[in-house]
Amino acid sequence: MCEGKLTRPMLFSSLLSAVVYSMFPLSATSCSRPLTQAESRGQLLYRSHCYECHDESQPELKKAPPALHNVLAHRSLPDGVTPATEENVRQVIVYGLHTMPPFSGRLTDAQVADLIAFLHRK
Ligand code: HEC
Repeated sequence: MCEGKLTRPMLFSSLLSAVVYSMFPLSATSCSRPLTQAESRGQLLYRSHCYECHDESQPELKKAPPALHNVLAHRSLPDGVTPATEENVRQVIVYGLHTMPPFSGRLTDAQVADLIAFLHRK
């Protein structure tokens, strides 16, 4: 008998918190799952190695670095020709492309893999 009385407010509060959480999700992007560990490592690497060019304007570069949002979800890379595969992105990172510097020797294979994992989420 008492149980019913006790559980009703509890049920109400958990319903309320479910509603509140759905209105104010913890992460800004409510539709996406949190970053995995590899993606988080890649995000940090991206901040320190790629962000300055790809997310801030670089007027001194002859060709403006393209935005990399959803870069691996498109059919081709920003050059419009190269298929948007992980391997092709890896090649760009390792060997560079025109005015983009190569990162071979500066990033390990594992770091490049983490960066690519992050680029799927960027
Ligand atoms: C010094 C500036 C600079 C930095 C640092 C830089 N990029 Fe770039 N990136 C460029 C430029 C410029 C291009 C366009 C090259 C072109 O198409 O001529 C480019 C192109 C790309 C492309 C598209 C290639 C294609 O075929 O269209 C990818 C992917 C990319 N960069 C990833 C990265 C990643 C990941 C990092 C960090 C590890 C990074 N870049 C760091 C300047 C930079």
